[in-house]
Amino acid sequence: MVKFQTLALLSLASTALAAPAWWEQWTLDKAKHIQDTVLSHVNNRFGNSNSGDSTLRLVQTAEDQAPVWMTEDQRMALLRKNIGYMDITDHQDFEPSLRSMTRLRLPKKAVQQAKANRYFNSLSTANMEVTLKEFTSFHNRYYRSKTGHQSAQWLYKQISDLIEESSADSDVSIRKFQHKWDQFSIIARFEGTDDTLSNQPVIVGAHQDSVNGWNPLWGRSPGADDDGSGTVTILEVFRSLVGTGFRPTRPVEFHWYSAEEAGLLGSQDVAESYDKKGVEVIAMIQNDMTGYVGARFEESFGIITDYVDPELTELMKVYASEYGDIPIRETKCGYSCSDHASWNKYGYRSAIAMEGDFSDISPWIHGPEDDISHVDFDHMKQFAKLSLGFAIELGHFSGKEKEQRHRCH
Ligand code: BES
Ligand code: ZN
Repeated sequence: MVKFQTLALLSLASTALAAPAWWEQWTLDKAKHIQDTVLSHVNNRFGNSNSGDSTLRLVQTAEDQAPVWMTEDQRMALLRKNIGYMDITDHQDFEPSLRSMTRLRLPKKAVQQAKANRYFNSLSTANMEVTLKEFTSFHNRYYRSKTGHQSAQWLYKQISDLIEESSADSDVSIRKFQHKWDQFSIIARFEGTDDTLSNQPVIVGAHQDSVNGWNPLWGRSPGADDDGSGTVTILEVFRSLVGTGFRPTRPVEFHWYSAEEAGLLGSQDVAESYDKKGVEVIAMIQNDMTGYVGARFEESFGIITDYVDPELTELMKVYASEYGDIPIRETKCGYSCSDHASWNKYGYRSAIAMEGDFSDISPWIHGPEDDISHVDFDHMKQFAKLSLGFAIELGHFSGKEKEQRHRCH
């Protein structure tokens, strides 16, 4: 009897230790998938979050605080409280490079109004509406979900088609920036006419991913405002430029980042690679949430003043009043609130404009109701004008111009 028990125990232990056969693994995977799906539905119904991923990630929530290891559920709890964070797990060897100590010189005012007119005329709210409708029809655009990968492929095709269909004379290309997960970032680039400036691009950015803060992998998140609005705003700017044969002096790049909602993962990868290659980005502007007009204040550009480059932010205010039709409202959005923070971290000048005052932003973000019914396309067009002005002004700034001096008589 004793012998039999020992034998049975031994054989149990050896099955547990041996790698399962493929059919056992398949059954286990299926069971795990069903368990995750049921759990996520239950948790969604009762208000807890469930991501199905217990991997720990290293997260920073303030400049002066030590990073902390957290599960995805814990990170989602931060998101639901609007606490900005940076996931630095893959960037722990970060050290500011020598290049990051210097900033390129910026202009002080807008001078390209005459050139800008033809591009502005082709901005279309109807076009933005059609595009945002399709983009928000993916169940969610979470960076680890299947539909998050599909939405990136869809976006990539929209941009490639614009390039292919254009008969105008721009030198423009598109590429995928791959990460450790399936949803890639997208980079489209207009070459500049001055070869000596080919390493000093201007960047216009937005994030393509969305998140349901209670159930990131399986929950519905149309992400119409956050950040379908920014994605489509800069796509419209790109469409207008590629369709009218934009030929800037220095390169102008459009970036659609993956995994912003997971702690700026995509933009950190891109900014790090630019830093490693010694690219001297002159300026980066982020479009995150450009579609909602709150009830507290009059419609305005919310200009973020914390964790940004102050000089570039001043210049962005000049462009907003020169090219936009609504007033400016200075506001803050805290540590690591969007992808501009990744560029800031790597020592580049970056700035961000948002739909309004921080206290007046959309209440629907990170949930199933962030859909196009709450989006104002005329408001988005204002941000398209701002980014278009930014691209044209800085794209044509050679940096060689002499400072204007006032002569004394
Ligand atoms: N679009 C938001 C930025 C935002 C959120 C502005 C709330 C104002 C209020 C962005 O996608 C976001 O969700 N940011 C997070 C941090 C991010 C790294 C997860 C935030 O600021 O809480
Ligand atoms: Zn968000």
